[in-house]
Amino acid sequence: MATMESLIVTVNRIQRACTVLGDHGGDTNLPTLWEALPSVVVVGGQSSGKSSVLESIVGRDFLPRGSGIVTRRPLVLQLHKTERGLQEYGEFLHLPKKKFTDFFVNLTLIDLPGLTKVAVEGQPESIVQDIEIMVRSYVEKPNCIILAITPANQDIATSDAMKLSREVDPTGERTFGVLTKLDLMDKGTNAIDVLEGRAYPLQHPWVGIVNRSQADIKKNVDMIASRRKEREFFASSPDYGHLASKMGSEYLAKVLSKHLESVIRARLPGITSLINKSIEELEAELSHLGRSVAVDAGAQLYTILELCRAFDRIFKEHLDGGRPGGDR
Ligand code: GDP
Ligand code: NA
Ligand code: MG
Repeated sequence: MATMESLIVTVNRIQRACTVLGDHGGDTNLPTLWEALPSVVVVGGQSSGKSSVLESIVGRDFLPRGSGIVTRRPLVLQLHKTERGLQEYGEFLHLPKKKFTDFFVNLTLIDLPGLTKVAVEGQPESIVQDIEIMVRSYVEKPNCIILAITPANQDIATSDAMKLSREVDPTGERTFGVLTKLDLMDKGTNAIDVLEGRAYPLQHPWVGIVNRSQADIKKNVDMIASRRKEREFFASSPDYGHLASKMGSEYLAKVLSKHLESVIRARLPGITSLINKSIEELEAELSHLGRSVAVDAGAQLYTILELCRAFDRIFKEHLDGGRPGGDR
């Protein structure tokens, strides 16, 4: 396994362990460590296609999705490789016993609740603001890679995703513009100006997506068929045919994996020193704990310690290999 890949896998595991641990980090710097490690979040209005995009990227069905379904809290998904590196599985931190196999991307993905403009009946008035504050707390962190989801059949100028991502990432270096529902645009209109980067220029190229419709979902169209349909849509489109190789969920997954790798590569010195600091802190914390803390929390701290040591070991092997920063 390439060293960079091992480092990314370890980074993901540390992130996961930190999340599971929650507030039991004692006097350690684990929140800082979590914030140094990149993760991907989807941001956009309700029913813009956020959950569908995440599923498409991963290539599996697993999220609550549909016109009446609303994600109420952030859902963190992790994709793992097993020790032998043979089998990958995905796992929701809110469904720790349920595992999904056969993924190909190596990312921490977070499905955030949709931004809304008005409270639905039965919801408190404050919900609109509460959701925005919560979403903002994720996307404003510099470690957060933003998938800004905008449906092509609505006015892009008023897109919640674009508005928020511009605010928190004005240079656009960590924002990926994703245009969903290209199949639902009015006849005679297209999104070429957006997808070619003229209408709303971003640092990274825009990616157009065609997810399953509600009718597809009712008919149980599976992910393989859905991706094939998406590929055919772009390949056969008079408007988008020339962009076909840079469109679709598989392409988005590749672009994201590559970006994540380059972010980790660039931050390696910072991450490494934080991890070394964490190793010292965790050793101290564990020796102080004794019986005063829940066994689970102690075990979790120990797990993080082991992961940090693994990271340090892989990183040193990387340096010993004499090729810091390049491995493939
Ligand atoms: P979320 O609320 O932002 O997570 O949106 P969902 O992923 O749950 O999608 C909302 C609805 O839009 C579902 O019925 C999806 O099937 C549908 N949908 C999402 N993306 C597309 C798309 O690209 N094309 C079509 N036709 N329907 C889509
Ligand atoms: Na939804
Ligand atoms: Mg959703």
